[in-house]
Amino acid sequence: MDRGKKEDLMHTVKDELVGLEASPLYAYRIENDNLPVVGEGDCDANLMFVGEAPGKNEAKSGRPFCGAAGKILDELLSSIGIDRDLVYITNIVKDRPPENRDPTTEEIELYGTFLDRQIEIIQPKVIVPLGRYAMNYIMTKFDLEDKIEPISFAHGKEYGAKVFFEDIKIVPMYHPAATIYNRSLGDTLFEDFMTLKKFI
Ligand code: URA
Repeated sequence: MDRGKKEDLMHTVKDELVGLEASPLYAYRIENDNLPVVGEGDCDANLMFVGEAPGKNEAKSGRPFCGAAGKILDELLSSIGIDRDLVYITNIVKDRPPENRDPTTEEIELYGTFLDRQIEIIQPKVIVPLGRYAMNYIMTKFDLEDKIEPISFAHGKEYGAKVFFEDIKIVPMYHPAATIYNRSLGDTLFEDFMTLKKFI
């Protein structure tokens, strides 16, 4: 699929998310003047990062990972010499849950269908789920449910998955926000990121 077609399909995903009145998070979005956060980056990227859900800054700007966790993600990307514009960054849940509470199963199921479409559009070679919600969703989606372990064991491991477009890798990592007050998790996350260099 050429880049233009991918961008068109991604616009359709965006338009549907903007009008997603059926979402349990829609009323909260409107009441708070928030925006849905579709994702950002190269629709033809090899590397796709999947977080949990937008926080306050993201919902105000409509951009993923643009607050404190985003600053760490930017540092991680630059530590391995990748430009943020060359990867694709999104979340499972596309609207901010009230007070950043954990997403519900219903929200993950609803917004997961949009993430599935984004994966089909981008056809990445490597998917990096950030944190346990994204890891559980992505590993279950790619029939790796029986290999799911706590993120403290799974982080930095490469799991092979076969999809209709080709063999891909799934490399779960700690969520950048989890490292804000934990220096050693932060060091681990930077080390895990180094393993992505071979995919650039
Ligand atoms: N945390 C996430 O999981 N996603 C964002 O976009 C920002 C913070």
